Amino acid sequence: MSTTPELTVALEDAAKFAFGKNWRRFLQSLNEERIAEAEKSLQNMLETDDLAGRSFLDVGCGSGLFSVAAIRLKAKRVHSFDYDPQCVACTQELRCRYFQDAVHWNIEQGSALDDGYLARLGTFDVVYAWGVLHHTGNMWQALENATLPVAAGGKLFIALYNDQGMLSRFWRQVKRNYCRSIFLRVPIILFFGTYILTAGLIKDLVLLKNPLARFREYKRSRGMSYFTDILDWLGGYPFEVAKLDAVFDFFRARGFELVKIKPAPRPMGNNEFVFLRRSRP
Ligand SMILES: C[S@@+](CC[C@H](N)C(=O)[O-])C[C@H]1O[C@@H](n2cnc3c(N)ncnc32)[C@H](O)[C@@H]1O
Repeated sequence: MSTTPELTVALEDAAKFAFGKNWRRFLQSLNEERIAEAEKSLQNMLETDDLAGRSFLDVGCGSGLFSVAAIRLKAKRVHSFDYDPQCVACTQELRCRYFQDAVHWNIEQGSALDDGYLARLGTFDVVYAWGVLHHTGNMWQALENATLPVAAGGKLFIALYNDQGMLSRFWRQVKRNYCRSIFLRVPIILFFGTYILTAGLIKDLVLLKNPLARFREYKRSRGMSYFTDILDWLGGYPFEVAKLDAVFDFFRARGFELVKIKPAPRPMGNNEFVFLRRSRP
């Protein structure tokens, strides 16, 4: 599978959510507790206590939180890249904050749709692309490209939005409108934001749970923030989804073995997969 440079440019120039702006706000609330949760999520899914002796590629690094977590888990080399210059700046800011002298941490702008770029990076023991490839505008090509830098015996850790059929198509339209028109953005945030908050509140009341716990405990989900994730959900476009079986089949055909899976906790959430590459062609 390959994309022509013209098609890639067209896809990348289309309406896109300003992820970097959202991550910049998130950085204000980043603290030790969130970083520890990010580390835990890597340890849990990669089934390891640390990344000592291993290289780590952070595809679509966003805030840079997971690159920080990889450095703290003693990765020997970390390379972080994102399509959005503001995400690159966020990640650079985190390096200044926490690991100013980390010469084994490279950060740059790059695209998951650029197969030449990915091939030039060389190979990594862990390739991490959480919630990224479905936002590129060409998910299956991005999945193909993500296999390129995985070393033999290395792991590919990805998360992709769950395919909900009609409902996914509906949300895709909402996100598209959010990104296409500044005039639709505020009503979308007000209407669907209120809908998501109210649905959560009703669920908590029915289950006799403290509704405030939803906000306080959200950081247990990979160190993330409830409000950052709501905006990411409402505006995160381009938006594609995948069924579990389609992802298994895709990677099996390319010599990858599924070693860990975490199905989406909510139907509209991300399915997480860790694949092992036994050998390289
Ligand atoms: C939902 S965020 C996930 C960020 C991070 N991986 C995490 O787990 O927190 C999606 C990220 O994908 C990035 N992205 C979108 N298209 C991309 C592309 N073609 N190449 C690289 N990154 C891309 C966005 O800029 C954004 O930072």
